[in-house]
Parts: sequence; C-alpha cells; structure tokens
Amino acid sequence: MKIVLLGAPGAGKGTQCKNIVDEYGLMHLSSGDILRRNRADGTELGKKAQSYMDAGDLVPDGIIIEMMSEAIKKAPPEGFILDGFPRTVNQAVALDGSLGEDGAIDAVLNLEIDDSVVEARMTGRRSCPQCGAVYHIENLKPKVEGLCDHDGAKLVQRPDDTPEVVLNRLDTYHRQTEPLVDYYRKNSTVFDIKADRNPDEVKAYVSKELQTLVK
Ligand code: AP5
Repeated sequence: MKIVLLGAPGAGKGTQCKNIVDEYGLMHLSSGDILRRNRADGTELGKKAQSYMDAGDLVPDGIIIEMMSEAIKKAPPEGFILDGFPRTVNQAVALDGSLGEDGAIDAVLNLEIDDSVVEARMTGRRSCPQCGAVYHIENLKPKVEGLCDHDGAKLVQRPDDTPEVVLNRLDTYHRQTEPLVDYYRKNSTVFDIKADRNPDEVKAYVSKELQTLVK
C-alpha cells in the first residue's frame, strides 16, 4: 500500500502515522524527520536545509525530491506512508514519475484542521529526539513528565514551533501545499478526515477509510 498524508502543520500527520505504521506494517517516510536527522548529524543536506526550516519556508524542491526518492527505494514490499512529502505540485509530479503507472499512490489521507487549532498544538508539542515519538503537554502527555515513553530520552521542543514561525508555516502551507489536494482529487482517491477531534477519534476514522482499501 502506498499512502500520502496531507495536512497543515500540526494537523496530526506524525501522530496518525505512528498508528498506521503499527497497524499495516508500512514504512513511515517523514521528510521533516529525515531533514531533522540530517541536521543533527551535521550533513551537507542538513546544513542546506537549516535556514529554510527555521524560518518555516519550504526547502527547495530539487533537494527534497532527491532525498525522498532515495528513501522510497528502501521501502519494504508492504509499502510506505509519506508524511510531509510531496508538499508542492512539482514534488507530486516528480513522485508520480518515479513510481510509474504500476506503482501509483493508492490513497491520500487529507487531515483537515482550522488554523485556529494549530497554534496551541504546535507550541505544546514535545518530541523525542531519538525515536521521533510526538507528545503534547496537555493532549498527549508522556507517562513521566519530560521523558519519552519508549526510550526514556529527554523530550525537546522543535525550534520551528514558536508562534511567529508557526504563522509562516501555515501561510506556506496554504500557498504551496494546499493546491495538492485538488491535484490528487483528479489523480487518486482522497479521504478527507476531520482532524480537530481527539487523537483516538481521528485514528478510528483513518482506520475506517483504510479498511475500505484493504478490502
Ligand atoms: P515537518 O516536520 O513535515 O512539519 P509539518 O508538516 O509542519 O508538520 P508537523 O510535524 O509540525 O505537524 P504534524 O501534522 O506531523 O503534527 P503532529 O502529529 O506532530 O516539516 C518541517 C519543515 O521541514 C518544513 O517547515 C520545511 O521547512 C521542511 N520540509 C519538510 N518536508 C518538506 C518538503 N516536502 N518540501 C520542502 N520542505 C520540506 O501533532 C502536532 C501536536 O499536536 C503534537 O503535540 C500532538 O501531540 C498534538 N496532536 C496531534 N493530534 C492531535 C489531536 N487529534 N488532538 C489534539 N492534539 C493533537
């Protein structure tokens, strides 16, 4: 199964991916996580991406397309879920070209959320720098405050989760990424999911839609 997950920053893409991966054995390919790993490792790619990410702008298409094409080649036969890629129509066209007709995307999950909900989610987010698990100081607390449930690592706040950068990320999303929803409505099956419910409710809706694909 090949799935694309769309949604504004803070819509809950990373949170829902963890559930989908556990249920269907797909590989989770998050462009944001791959970029952050490159930054932590001090690679050339990470250095090139840094200023764009910290400002809440998109990293240039050429860099991202090459990085994600390499990642997709390593996916298992069960398939993958793309989180944060594609993010421009250019990237989507490149993805379609690299998959070819036999490998087309099976479905797009479009997490819908109002901008007004996003800021509280982003400023309260805490992430595990080791395994990427995502928490929230109010909505999804770890068992021990400040520590990851999975590996005990100290949770961190992302540098691009400040209110000013979140505003720019939302603006970037509306201008450059939202047009992808229409692109995919013409080329694929799009499931619209209301993402302003609690995480378990969103998970139930996602599962229901994906079950129709499995059948
Ligand atoms: P990326 O890491 O992809 O960030 P994003 O798309 O902005 O999305 P987020 O990770 O912030 O949010 P999410 O939807 O995953 O929400 P989450 O589950 O964490 O990209 C970062 C940067 O990298 C970009 O700005 C860009 O510079 C660059 N980049 C990446 N991909 C690129 C590309 N393809 N092209 C160019 N540049 C690229 O949830 C958020 C919070 O809310 C958490 O605290 C969570 O616990 C909580 N939460 C989740 N669901 C719920 C719920 N249902 N109810 C209440 N709280 C919830």
